[in-house]
Amino acid sequence: EWADRGAAKIVQEVVNPQTGVATKQVIKKGIKDFKFGDVLGDGSYSTVILAKSNDSGKKYAVKVLNKEYLIRQKKVKYVNIEKNTLQRLNNSRGVIKLYFTFQDEASLYFLLEYAPNGDFLSVMKKFGSLSEECVSYYGAQIIDAIDFIHQKGVVHRDIKPENILLDKEMKVKLTDFGTAKLLEENSDTKTYDLLERSKSFVGTAEYVSPELLNENYVDYKCDIWAFGCIIFQMIAGKPPFKAANEYLTFQKVMKVQFAFTAGFPLVIRDLVRQILVKNPDSRPSCREIKRHPLFKGLNFRDGTLWEAPAPEIAPYKV
Ligand code: ADE
Repeated sequence: EWADRGAAKIVQEVVNPQTGVATKQVIKKGIKDFKFGDVLGDGSYSTVILAKSNDSGKKYAVKVLNKEYLIRQKKVKYVNIEKNTLQRLNNSRGVIKLYFTFQDEASLYFLLEYAPNGDFLSVMKKFGSLSEECVSYYGAQIIDAIDFIHQKGVVHRDIKPENILLDKEMKVKLTDFGTAKLLEENSDTKTYDLLERSKSFVGTAEYVSPELLNENYVDYKCDIWAFGCIIFQMIAGKPPFKAANEYLTFQKVMKVQFAFTAGFPLVIRDLVRQILVKNPDSRPSCREIKRHPLFKGLNFRDGTLWEAPAPEIAPYKV
């Protein structure tokens, strides 16, 4: 898997300016080819650092993982899941791009697309809440990205605002696929029933679905649940299931105990009510969510959704 010790082999197309003929060149990239800058984020077993390529000046977000720590904490499996998943999803709209990986004695490196506008949680925190126009714009991209990864057979399992990055045009990019589950690459609705036993809790308390807590099985609908929580949070300024500690949060999730804030828009209320239901089979599919009145006038089929300029960010006014 990580045989590319020291440097990653990259095939680059080089065009001869005189003849216009393109030839393929194999170049090797390693840690010495980048200048490292600010820390962009800290995960439980990784650090993301801004890096600039010495020759092109292009910026990357480099995820650095300490090998010794990964082995000691038995996390090697998750790193490989993340690498394989990102490779399966590469070059897709709405997902952070993995350019290449390499390693040295101490660490593994993921050269990821740099999303200069940070994560969606910071945006929500800065503004407190978001206007209905913003909920529609960001919500549409988030559900389209979720639909896309599902069609590629990937369940993210930890969809949350911190894992939604924003590129330079404020377009959504899902990231952090370390807890993803790869299922059969099949968009057939039958695979939605696929049950997969898993041993341990993955995800984040506030966005975890009841079935994950109860029966410990994984299917695509846990990402839909998280989407419902995020839509709620965009208006309310806080996730629907939030308590003083994880245990109390889990209890609220199991009982599907949440309340809309005063003045919560009816159209978004309706969508949240449809999504945040205990039975995963009763939750709407991505396709059904896209047809909801919240996304009226948006075209999910021709890609224009991803070309429209981002609305000015404003808080929701009751
Ligand atoms: N934080 C974590 N990953 C990032 C990325 N790819 N771009 C910007 N900030 C990040």
